[in-house]
Amino acid sequence: MSQPAAAPARTVTVRVPAKVNVQLSVGGLRADGFHPLANVFLAVGLYDSVSATPAQTPRLTVSGPDAALVPQDRSNLAARAARLLAQRHGIEAAVHLHLAKDIPVAGGMAGGSADAAGALLACDRLWGLDTPREELLALCAELGSDVPFSFAGGAALGQGRGEVLTPLQVGGVFHWVFAVADGGLSTPDVYRECDRLREAEGTGSADTDIPEPVASEALLAALRGGDPQALAATVHNDLQAAALSLRPALAETLTAGLEAGALAGLVSGSGPTCAFLLPDADSAARTAHALTTSGTCRAARPTAGPAPGATVV
Ligand code: C5P
Repeated sequence: MSQPAAAPARTVTVRVPAKVNVQLSVGGLRADGFHPLANVFLAVGLYDSVSATPAQTPRLTVSGPDAALVPQDRSNLAARAARLLAQRHGIEAAVHLHLAKDIPVAGGMAGGSADAAGALLACDRLWGLDTPREELLALCAELGSDVPFSFAGGAALGQGRGEVLTPLQVGGVFHWVFAVADGGLSTPDVYRECDRLREAEGTGSADTDIPEPVASEALLAALRGGDPQALAATVHNDLQAAALSLRPALAETLTAGLEAGALAGLVSGSGPTCAFLLPDADSAARTAHALTTSGTCRAARPTAGPAPGATVV
C-alpha cells in the first residue's frame, strides 16, 4: 500500500521596503532615552523578503551580500517579532524565518525594522491569526520606532519617537540613488553623537532645551505636488552632522553625488547610506554609475518611491 504524499510545508513570503527620511527633525533627549521626532518617511523600492515556514523549533537563516553582518540568534528583530506575536496569541513561535536581504545592514534605511514588520505579517498569515491591522501596528511599535512605517509603507509623518504615523499624500514618483557605505553605523551611537554636538555648541540636548520638532509645510507641499526640485530644496536631516562627525568620509560621498547631478544629497536616517534625489530615472541611472566609479562608496543603487509597505507575495 502506498503512503499518501506528505503535504508540502506551506511558506508565506512577505516583501518589505527600505525607507529614506526626507525630513528628520530631532528634539531633545527624553527621560526614556528616546528623542521626539518630526520624521517624514518615504518608502523606496529596495526590498527585503521574509519567508516563514512551519518548523519543530524556532530557526532563523539569512541570505544576501551582507548576511554575515546580521545576528542569526534570538536577538534578531525578526525572531523577536515572531515571539511577540506568538506570545500575544498564546501559541508556540515554531517557525523557520528566512531573511533574503537586499536592504543595506545598519545603513539608516530601516533594514532591521523591515525584517521585523515582514516577520510579523508572514507569521500572522502562516498561523492563520488574521490579527487586525491596528493591532499589528501596535506590535510593530513595541518592536522599534521605525517598524510601524516599514509595515505601512508609502509616505508618512512619524511623531512621538517616530512610531505615531499619519499617512501622507504623494503626488508623483521620486527618483533616488542610495550610496551604500562599507560598514554600518549604530543608531544609538548617532543619536548620542547628536546630543554631544548640541552640548558642545552650548544649546543643551535635553527635551526642555530643544523646541518640539514640527514637519515642514513646504516639504509636505513638495511631496503632495510630486515636485522633485521643491522637495530637494526642503529635505533635511538633523542626524546628518552626527553621522558625518562619526564618519567624516561621507562628506566625499555627498560631494560626489551632487557633482554627478543630484538635486539634493543627504545622509539617510542615522546613516551611513547617503541618499540622492534626481529629477528622473535616466539621471538616477547616470548618477548611480558616476557614484559607483567615484570610489566614495561600496555600491550605488538607483530606485524610486513611494513604495508599498509589507506585502504577502
Ligand atoms: O526604536 P529603536 O529600537 O529603533 O531605537 C534604537 C535606538 O535609537 C534607541 O535605543 C535610541 O537610542 C535611539 N532613538 C532615539 N530616539 C528615537 C528613536 C530612536 O533616541 N526617536
